[in-house]
Amino acid sequence: MSLYRTIDPASLSLAEWHPYMIGSVIPRPIAWVTTIDEQGHPNLAPFSYFNVFSSKPPIAAFSPSTSARTGRPKDTHLNLLEVPECVIHIVPYDLAARMNITTGEYERGINEIERAGLETLPSEVVRPPRIAGTPVQMEAKVKQILPLGDNPGAGQLVLAEIVRLHLSEFILNEKGLPDPRKMDVIARLGGFWYIRLLPETIFWMKQPRNPAEVLSWHELPEDLKQSRILTAAEIGHLLAHRPPDADKLRHLPAPPDPDTLHRQIQALLPDRAAEAWMLYIQAVQSS
Ligand SMILES: Cc1cc2nc3c(=O)[nH]c(=O)nc-3n(C[C@H](O)[C@H](O)[C@H](O)COP(=O)(O)O)c2cc1C
Repeated sequence: MSLYRTIDPASLSLAEWHPYMIGSVIPRPIAWVTTIDEQGHPNLAPFSYFNVFSSKPPIAAFSPSTSARTGRPKDTHLNLLEVPECVIHIVPYDLAARMNITTGEYERGINEIERAGLETLPSEVVRPPRIAGTPVQMEAKVKQILPLGDNPGAGQLVLAEIVRLHLSEFILNEKGLPDPRKMDVIARLGGFWYIRLLPETIFWMKQPRNPAEVLSWHELPEDLKQSRILTAAEIGHLLAHRPPDADKLRHLPAPPDPDTLHRQIQALLPDRAAEAWMLYIQAVQSS
């Protein structure tokens, strides 16, 4: 039996396929977007088909699809055709339920901001307002709306250039940059599930810029490769931190009691990989 279930999207209806789509690519950030129509009526709606795609120019994209229920474009899309400006907000946990209220398919012109009891702040460059209490607010101008199809469920990919970024003082670190440990924001998962970003669920991992900083799999001693104690993640941390005398590793004797040694190494991971390697090398050299 195969360990994977393979699905051909073309063989499924929109309703059958959509749950796989939103359940597979997780977590997805949520763009909580304000727009206005020609008359200046504001609109607020969440979109989790969303991300940023370029730093310079700073481009964000989100995708309001043609409604599967009504076959009509979303109000956000219609507003952007009239006034090609928006503010994209990141949703804090505190406003999760209010965000959910603004997803309701209200008549065009209904003010979801008032309905959800949200307060606004004026934007600097664009006309749609900002939502107070959100940690990150991006004023953006639409560069292009790319239709991804003309059937219900087809996205209309909005590419927008960020022209102002507003960051809550409460989320900044000492350098003035956003600190993820202070950003209690949410992201969308499959079904009606969400995830909340909390300090205890995030981890720090520096990118190895120089290939010499990492160990190759073939250099890893056999006992570590075949460890009954270390997890795949822990072996990854050892690989990512090349010890100073890495070229000697393969010529070292196997430890007499690998399980005990691996448990000691495990206690130092993931944060103290250099010490874990020192412990390993000392232990096998003295055996
Ligand atoms: C967390 C969340 C994420 C959503 N993501 C999308 C999305 O990416 N694309 C989409 O078309 N609708 C999405 N929806 C549904 C829209 O928010 C919903 O259709 C809303 O009524 C659109 O508002 P509008 O007609 O005022 O633009 C999402 C809803 C929620 C709650």
